[in-house]
Amino acid sequence: MNTLVEDAQAAGASVGLTAERITVRGGRPLKGRIELKGAKNLVTKAMVASLLGETPSELRSVPEISDVRVVKGLLEVHGVKVTSVGADTILLDPSNVESAHFEVIDAYAGSSRIPILFCGPLLHRLGEAFIPDLGGCRIGDRPIDFHLEGLRRFGAVVDKQPQGIRLTAPNGLKGAKIELPYPSVGATEQVLLTAVRAEGTTELRGAAVEPEIMDLINILQKMGAIISVDTDRVIRIEGVERLEGFSHTALFDRNEAASWAAAALATEGDIFVGGARQSEMLTFLNVFRKVGGAFEINDNGIRFYHPGGKLKPVIIETDVHPGFMTDWQQPLVVALTKAEGVSIVHETVYEQRFGFTDALVDMGAHIQLHRECLGGAECRFGQRNFNHSAVIVGPTDLHAADVVVPDLRGGFSHLIAALSAEGSSTVSNVGIIARGYENFIAKLRALGADFVLEA
Ligand code: EPU
Repeated sequence: MNTLVEDAQAAGASVGLTAERITVRGGRPLKGRIELKGAKNLVTKAMVASLLGETPSELRSVPEISDVRVVKGLLEVHGVKVTSVGADTILLDPSNVESAHFEVIDAYAGSSRIPILFCGPLLHRLGEAFIPDLGGCRIGDRPIDFHLEGLRRFGAVVDKQPQGIRLTAPNGLKGAKIELPYPSVGATEQVLLTAVRAEGTTELRGAAVEPEIMDLINILQKMGAIISVDTDRVIRIEGVERLEGFSHTALFDRNEAASWAAAALATEGDIFVGGARQSEMLTFLNVFRKVGGAFEINDNGIRFYHPGGKLKPVIIETDVHPGFMTDWQQPLVVALTKAEGVSIVHETVYEQRFGFTDALVDMGAHIQLHRECLGGAECRFGQRNFNHSAVIVGPTDLHAADVVVPDLRGGFSHLIAALSAEGSSTVSNVGIIARGYENFIAKLRALGADFVLEA
């Protein structure tokens, strides 16, 4: 069995999804209502932040996804008591944080990228940390050099070992001046989670400012941190000696919202996404409208629908916030195969995030990948050998095929493609989708999708 299949099965099984394959009879519009919970890319980090508090924290709107399970497990092996209260609230009690045995931590190797964010909090609490090899979607090299360089600036000693990374802080952690070469989400979070309890002031330049990062800052401020966000991607953190637990309702999952919006467009459907908010999705909404999608915003969510007529091609460049998120392009590309004309998607955040298009081509889409930066600006990948620009020529009526999910967002796009294609498609490795989409099977049912699950 290859590791992709093993990963998928482990991810799905951990949230009760026992099916490995879905057979979809496509060609029906998705119509109905779904509710979002907290963002995968915030909730998991908020859980790590609880390690920094002297008192318990309460986190609400926690989705049932396998990334949350992984972080819960890793917190528990470090002595944090994690209790579920009601449907989607967890209590995190860090009163007895302790070092975990290497073998126990190593069991989490390859399961997620979040363990790297345990470094700062564990160094503050225990003076040492061991981080297993990281997992996450295979969408590029995904190095952690910014994280390790930042930690060294705080005074951490980094020892790379065969199975992972061991960190110590013999002289404690001290505030630092750090400039990121690229506004990395994870490295910004790393600096925040380390600086809040470091001695003195930290100045972070070139920071990422995604809404999920702002919500993490909200949480840290509730805990007692002093953090200011200046213009031009500068974040200043004054270290404090003690932080308390927090009580917080997580920001909604705007990546999931965009995924269902794209599903509505590609299937000529109509989906009300409860919990979605306009302000964190401005850039997506503009593109959605330019492609020919329609939306209605109200206080409880956003209705996304295909208003009839032809879809229009667009040129998109993925970027860090406030640009068009890289996580939005994969589902939207399926809708772009149905637009009349030539669309271009230039992926500037990850160098290999078009692997999912092979399956769309198998379904009849006309998509060509290019190494050049198409669509306007030059990016970091321009002079390198990565197929990071896609040209999509439409409109195409996708036909059914058997496809294998390669990664989280790519997998969701395969599902949408199968739902919009005439005939019966089999989508394998669907466990990977459960890493980041809560109850997606139940949501598909609620939206009238026609499919069967296979073990
Ligand atoms: N990078 C480095 N060195 C580093 C860190 C990052 O070169 O030390 C590079 C990466 O290789 C990449 C770019 O910087 O080319 C941006 O990576 P970033 O650190 O911002 O990504 P991340 O923190 O690993 C998070 C989300 C991703 C999302 C990106 C961009 C989580 C758990 N993951 O990843 O989400 O695409 O930010 O917004 O928060 C997903 O949800 O499917 C997903 C992949």
